[in-house]
Amino acid sequence: MTDKTFALEPIEKASVDELRALQLQRLKWSLAHAYANSPVYKAKFDAAGVHPDDLKQLSDLAKFPFTTKKDLRDSYPFGMFAVPRDQLARIHASSGTTGKPTVVGYTLKDIDTWAGVVARSIRASGARPGDLVHISYGYGLFTGGLGAHYGAEKLGLTVVPFGGGQTERQIQLIQDFRPDIIMVTPSYMLAIADEVERMGLDPKALSLRLGIFGAEPWTNEMRTAIEARMNIDAVDIYGLSEVMGPGVANECVETKDGPTIWEDHFYPEIIDPDTGEPVPDGQEGELVFTSLTKEALPIIRYRTRDLTRLLPGTARTMRRMQKITGRSDDMMIIRGVNVFPTQIEELLLKRPELSPHYQCVLTREGPMDNLKVAVECAPGVDPEGIQARAAAKLLQHEIKVYVGSSVEVELKGEGGIERSVGKARRVVDLRPK
Ligand code: DLL
Repeated sequence: MTDKTFALEPIEKASVDELRALQLQRLKWSLAHAYANSPVYKAKFDAAGVHPDDLKQLSDLAKFPFTTKKDLRDSYPFGMFAVPRDQLARIHASSGTTGKPTVVGYTLKDIDTWAGVVARSIRASGARPGDLVHISYGYGLFTGGLGAHYGAEKLGLTVVPFGGGQTERQIQLIQDFRPDIIMVTPSYMLAIADEVERMGLDPKALSLRLGIFGAEPWTNEMRTAIEARMNIDAVDIYGLSEVMGPGVANECVETKDGPTIWEDHFYPEIIDPDTGEPVPDGQEGELVFTSLTKEALPIIRYRTRDLTRLLPGTARTMRRMQKITGRSDDMMIIRGVNVFPTQIEELLLKRPELSPHYQCVLTREGPMDNLKVAVECAPGVDPEGIQARAAAKLLQHEIKVYVGSSVEVELKGEGGIERSVGKARRVVDLRPK
């Protein structure tokens, strides 16, 4: 291994003009490739009356139709692909809540591109030559494990491909192999930290220096809590299978100010989710991505349903996205007020009597939707005790003041909230269908 792999790639240092020129050139290719080789895109472009040649500048992208999860579902399993099936090197799929999975595919070149952006992500996170990385993202059809794995290997690190689950064994190997980096969902990191403490050990005393956390929303308050508890740097990795997998964007450790979007491969837009119109940088809306280099499954204006805004570059020229405040799917409307689990998380992390394990439970009484925040007390705190009850009251009050909703807070004892080994389930919807 040489230190060369740890130098920034030229494009990470390019000027905005250079970057835009590259994007335009690649965008033309990507639209033409999708139109020529994927019958689904051809039909969609034709129906919208647009042709790849209509793109003269980047802003012309707004003329092209959106792609949604439904398009992928309707063409299940391989209908949207722009290469013959035998050109696929790999297939991933995400299960979703209903019906058939969403299937995505990669050529060998796509896998290499993906490994490249994940390697870049891990480097931006603060990896150093010689680091050992423990991967607890799930392996298999989920893109987390294999995506992280290929990137870490490409960067020249030593990889322990553990995957999710078997928490005690994970900890045993973390103690024995002494990894520098862990890649895992933030919620499973907390479950691991709990288990470490239950075993009578101090999470701060582990060898870990850096955690690369993503696959689910997590707040800056959660970052601070994890960093203090584990004595590590915690950085945010973002991605989605339809666009590639992990590594579409990643925070730079020196700024920790929202993931930098690897714009040479993924072109971002923010749209008004109601009208579909693009909004200027800095304004909040739904994140939309267009792939610039993907072969097997070009993705044109994919509506992520993730809500954020685009911010100017800091540690890199490329733009950043604000840490995701929520998915529109997770948005709860309580008596006309929009509420996201991350808003609740921000407030409950201020209460030392409470743990970061929580769920938002939705029920319906007559025409009214009710929200109950079920939250576990911190270890050693009695849910029936005065302290815990006072904390619950304060939380309820703060949610009313800062979020604008009246909610019930239910305190649980240790282990009272389900632990996931991957993405946490933050919203439990018990309303009648
Ligand atoms: O979760 C890919 C991934 C794996 C990203 C490991 C990071 C680390 P999907 O299962 O397709 O792919 O889910 C994608 O998860 O649209 C977001 O709603 C959410 N998500 C992913 N990363 C973040 C993040 C993977 N850093 C969906 N912050 C996305 C907030 C995230 N939400």
